[in-house]
Amino acid sequence: MAQTTKFMTIAVFFFLSNTLSFKQTLLEFVMSSKPLVVFTPSGKRGHFEKGTSILQIARKLGVDLDSVCGGRGICSKCQITPSYGEFTKHGVTVSADALSEWNKVEERYHEKRGLAEGRRLGCQACVQGDVVIDVPAESQVHKQVIRKDASVRSVNMNPATRLFYVEVQEPDMHEPSGDFERLKNALRDQWSINDVELDYFQLNKLQRVLRKGNWAVTVALYNDHTNKTPRIIEIWPGLYEKGLYGLAIDLGSTTIAAHLTDLKSGDVLKSAGAMNPQIRFGEDLMSRVSYSMMNVGGDKEMTTVVREAINSLAKQLIIDAEIEKNALVEVVFVCNPVMHHLLLGIDPVELGQAPFALASSNAMTVRTSELDLTEMNPSGMCYILPCIAGHVGADAAAVALSEEPNKSNDLVLVVDVGTNAEILLGNKSKVLACSSPTGPAFEGAQISSGQRAAPGAIERIEIDPVTKEPRFRVIGSSLWSDEKGFDESIKNSGVTGICGSGIIEAVAELRMAGLMDESGLIGSAELTGSDRCIPDGRTHSYIIHDQSDQNGPKITVSQNDIRAIQLAKSALYAGARLLMDEMEVEKVDRVVLAGAFGAHISSKHAMVLGMIPDVALEKVQSAGNAAGTGARIALCDISSRKSIESTVNKIEKIETAIEPKFQEHFVAANAIPHKTDPFPELAKIVELPTVLFNSGAGKKSRARRKTRILNNAD
Ligand code: FES
Repeated sequence: MAQTTKFMTIAVFFFLSNTLSFKQTLLEFVMSSKPLVVFTPSGKRGHFEKGTSILQIARKLGVDLDSVCGGRGICSKCQITPSYGEFTKHGVTVSADALSEWNKVEERYHEKRGLAEGRRLGCQACVQGDVVIDVPAESQVHKQVIRKDASVRSVNMNPATRLFYVEVQEPDMHEPSGDFERLKNALRDQWSINDVELDYFQLNKLQRVLRKGNWAVTVALYNDHTNKTPRIIEIWPGLYEKGLYGLAIDLGSTTIAAHLTDLKSGDVLKSAGAMNPQIRFGEDLMSRVSYSMMNVGGDKEMTTVVREAINSLAKQLIIDAEIEKNALVEVVFVCNPVMHHLLLGIDPVELGQAPFALASSNAMTVRTSELDLTEMNPSGMCYILPCIAGHVGADAAAVALSEEPNKSNDLVLVVDVGTNAEILLGNKSKVLACSSPTGPAFEGAQISSGQRAAPGAIERIEIDPVTKEPRFRVIGSSLWSDEKGFDESIKNSGVTGICGSGIIEAVAELRMAGLMDESGLIGSAELTGSDRCIPDGRTHSYIIHDQSDQNGPKITVSQNDIRAIQLAKSALYAGARLLMDEMEVEKVDRVVLAGAFGAHISSKHAMVLGMIPDVALEKVQSAGNAAGTGARIALCDISSRKSIESTVNKIEKIETAIEPKFQEHFVAANAIPHKTDPFPELAKIVELPTVLFNSGAGKKSRARRKTRILNNAD
């Protein structure tokens, strides 16, 4: 009765006035007769007819509420939490009967699988009165995932592949149509997906799966950022709810790192790494390009071995994470241009000579079967990030995606340290990029006692400037070598060698302790006052650890090791300087060290060595494996693929190989820390001894220098 009176009043008012504002007020008045539904955290709200399901309302308002079964009450992806009571912020009071009662479908689901206290199925709960609905993170498709490492960078979950459950019409003699056509119709009618393609491998099993599922199936639909027709890349009978997975792969010249990622939560379930087996064809990129030039079919050999290595990693991850092979549906690759070509089966010969033309610099999407990736879903999809230039690859693009120098207010230098260093310099107005051939020394290769980062490898080292005695820590033990219990703690691994971060610290410590001069020359025992400096041919080596009398290793830093580190650091510094010249700046505001190895470099030691330009120590940050993170972002969020493709187009590329100033910077950077560039920030924290170990010096001057060194050490 009260409702009838309300509408009569409205009608009278409507005839009395025809103004726009009056109509609007009237509309709100009419709407207010319907319950108000407010969603959190999105804040989206609207009035809806009583009896409308929360899932339907969420779809109308564009609220991110997941569903695989399309509201049939069997997938539980649509879970929501209604809130009751007074909500002044939203202007509503929610009564206990704001939603329809707990129904049989929810009861059945609760009995079988259990619904947490306070949770309802959004497809079953219908609105009865004003209500506030919270959509928990696990029920959102596009949720934000906060990275756990140093620089906080959220990942938006917006994967290309999603699951859809459909019930397909059975075949009918009187209305002949194919099973795929009826599956298409079901997707159109039940999910409003108007057109799909069926991958060839899925066509093979479609009929069997439909019948096995009694005409109900779950399809994995790949729909990326390119506006191409969505493609069915897997089909399961009935409701499949075990999840979809992807691999984020950082394919480096020396190592391959793969991260198995849950495409719903964005979590990395397992990671695995392997040496790149192409190393046997050449340690660095150019030697692999020349292997391809010199050997007919050499490129094919390298393609085969790297694909095999990726397959082994995938197989291992599938076993470790206990997932099914067909659920591994996507891979994102980041790699340098040579790795990029060899992965795709393209001869990299053009990348070995100016003008370093890529077959294509655009991002690419290919099927896993096209890359012979046999240990994952054969219809799965691979996305390869765009390359920036012939020497600056998709790995640099991934670093740009992860570290976003293009969004920085201050001038940031991002260095991804690996066999090749990818260097980005920029801020909101401009970003420059180059790649510098550092070689494998930073990764412990080509170092006399070098080894990969594994238990037993020296990763930290300090040399006392007075006694010239070292103390160190090895991977696998938290104790320093001069601490009680150290021998016991390394009983299983022993001390086996020096890894990349260890060798950088060792060289920098030699310089700080006055055992090595600015030119990188290690002094003799006589000149340095340390018996650890032993003759080694015409030069000297410094002994860090010697167990040779017990048939153990003798771990030293040799003059050749120092030369290898000098070459690597000079290439890195020269690349950074070249970008600074181009940007017309003498200093940068911030340095980000990326790369798996970048995470372990001590910024002080990197600065002593002159790897990076002088900057306040607190302005040197570590970004962990930024290329790997970029790969994971692209895997989880298709909109990030679109954005990096457009960012890459705006990045200016500097080609170090043909830039005459590179050589000049390279030579000046050979000194430790640098021949000409001042390092005022470094000078505030470290006083470097003035020593000179030129072997041509006379006996008298040597003695004088020895005194000076000792004085400095005091
Ligand atoms: Fe599947 Fe609600 S949408 S249970």
